[in-house]
Amino acid sequence: MIDVAFLGTAVRPAGTAVVIDVLRATSTITLALASGYERVLVAGSIDEATALRTPERTLAGEVGCARAPGFDLGNSPEETLTPRGAELVLATTNGAPAIVAAAASADEVLVASLLNLDAVLAQLAERDDVLLVCAGTDGRVSMEDVYLAGRLSARLDGDRTDSARVAEALAAAYPDPFDALSASGGAVGLRREGLESDISFCAQQSIVDVVGRLSEMVEGAALLTAAPTTAASPTSKLHS
Ligand code: MLT
Repeated sequence: MIDVAFLGTAVRPAGTAVVIDVLRATSTITLALASGYERVLVAGSIDEATALRTPERTLAGEVGCARAPGFDLGNSPEETLTPRGAELVLATTNGAPAIVAAAASADEVLVASLLNLDAVLAQLAERDDVLLVCAGTDGRVSMEDVYLAGRLSARLDGDRTDSARVAEALAAAYPDPFDALSASGGAVGLRREGLESDISFCAQQSIVDVVGRLSEMVEGAALLTAAPTTAASPTSKLHS
């Protein structure tokens, strides 16, 4: 069954939970792993991320879309293009808590963005209990997350719920992903903070072949690493 949870707080037990925060947490995690960070520790809060700080770890995260005070990086995907070490710690308002919540209830957790759309679909080819978890924004449904859930659902085989059909209908209304992201509520805060270029960056499709997957919990944080590629995995276009 293919199902969609429209909010991160609505996550439920599932075989595979695919967490989606297109603007921007899951785009940032995906690009960090594709760029060479070996591990991304996703923390449930800024305080928890701060407690994870070591000299070897890079701290990234946002408050109100702006870089969290004292952190090394904000939450712009492109900030991860040149890794500063092997481990990135990330704390964000909605996406990171959604990943931590999914880790507590799903057998497997993957992280999806438009940047790795085809690679996520390749990972899901053999899965039959898939919950697409839209992080949302401060308890409200985010159109950009539902849009990607619909894009994924439309290309998966199997029965689907009405939630999945709703997401597919939304996705079908936007032939160009940039238009869906640009029209979303999530884009408003980015424009406010002068981060408009993140919208077009996150609207790029299938430029990397890496999919972040929950490996284990470490000190309350969800440790994500790159899932092994499958026979159906596409080839990265990040540096081509
Ligand atoms: C979040 O987790 O709320 C988002 O990733 C916010 C952002 O765009 O930085």
